[in-house]
Amino acid sequence: MSKKRMLSGITTTGQMTLGNYIGAMRNFVSLQDEFEMFVFVANLHGITAPIEKEILRKNIKNMVTLYFACGMDPEKSTVFIQSEVLEHTQLAWILTCNTTIGELQRMTQFKDKSTKVKSDNGTEFIPTGLLTYPVLMAADILLYDPEFVPVGKDQKQHIELARNIAERMNNKFGEMFTIPGEYTPKIGSKIMDLQDPTKKMSKSATNKKGFIALLDDINEVKNKIKSAVTDSENIIKYDPETKPGVSNLLTIYSALKNISIEETEKFFEGKDYGFLKEEVSIVVVELLEKIQTRFNELSKTDDVDNWLEQGAKKAQQIARKKLTKVQNLTGLNYKRK
Ligand code: AMP
Ligand code: TRP
Repeated sequence: MSKKRMLSGITTTGQMTLGNYIGAMRNFVSLQDEFEMFVFVANLHGITAPIEKEILRKNIKNMVTLYFACGMDPEKSTVFIQSEVLEHTQLAWILTCNTTIGELQRMTQFKDKSTKVKSDNGTEFIPTGLLTYPVLMAADILLYDPEFVPVGKDQKQHIELARNIAERMNNKFGEMFTIPGEYTPKIGSKIMDLQDPTKKMSKSATNKKGFIALLDDINEVKNKIKSAVTDSENIIKYDPETKPGVSNLLTIYSALKNISIEETEKFFEGKDYGFLKEEVSIVVVELLEKIQTRFNELSKTDDVDNWLEQGAKKAQQIARKKLTKVQNLTGLNYKRK
């Protein structure tokens, strides 16, 4: 029996964070034996908010190398850069014409990000791409007929929209897309900001102490964990509502140790916050050192570029076929039905 297909991506608005790793990346790696994985670097999504070109270049380069440094295997999985498969933007346009402005304005990420663009840059310049972002995401997904899309919690609403668009297109024009399911990890689907644990850890946060980037300097990482916001109770207990900081550290520990939250709570029972931070620091540093060593090795070779070229070729073959089908069924290609 052939393997089921999965697909996912990470945007290049910043450096890959520990949140991305726990909520997305490590799942891509562990799923690649069981599923036919397609993963890409969403650099077109990376320009939906203003970004300087040199920063964008660096983010893309680091991100692609990190995919492999974190364990993506080019023999098993298809890894590529979104903008190298032109079919994504082609399909996105067709889907845009079948999506309402209201649907897009209702997306919570749009509301949050458009407010952030305004407050960060003091401008009314909200790029249209920020609004149509989920349609491009739907195109990314629907081109490949994946059965599942592994993502963190924040992306659930976008997957739901992709499903709605797929159903609408199938009903209107004839069967063309598989309806994708989402797949969120049991532990770590939302790692929180270290300085404000009521907010998601985000690579585009203004306070750099709030997130850990996989390529951060190790001493800096230790300091970030040491200065993570907790509370004044000094009781280690998992309760995201009343103890968001401590619960976040427990989640990170539990995810990286591959043990349940209950086992993690038991391990830390009766201990103080100093000990908790020390232990979290040890597991995070161990992981980052491994990833950074591999990253440095890969950076010295052309392997990543070769793997990406091979990935884009394979992805494009599939995407081309699907786009042709959509063009035929929607009447764009006047010669074919
Ligand atoms: P993004 O950085 O927004 O492109 O997210 C890429 C992937 O990482 C998506 O599947 C997100 O849901 C996931 N992700 C991003 N931030 C976090 C976080 N703080 N905790 C868990 N998953 C996250
Ligand atoms: N929007 C996703 C995020 O911010 C990244 C992404 C783009 C994606 N296209 C995708 C994820 C397709 C899954 C499938 O996390």
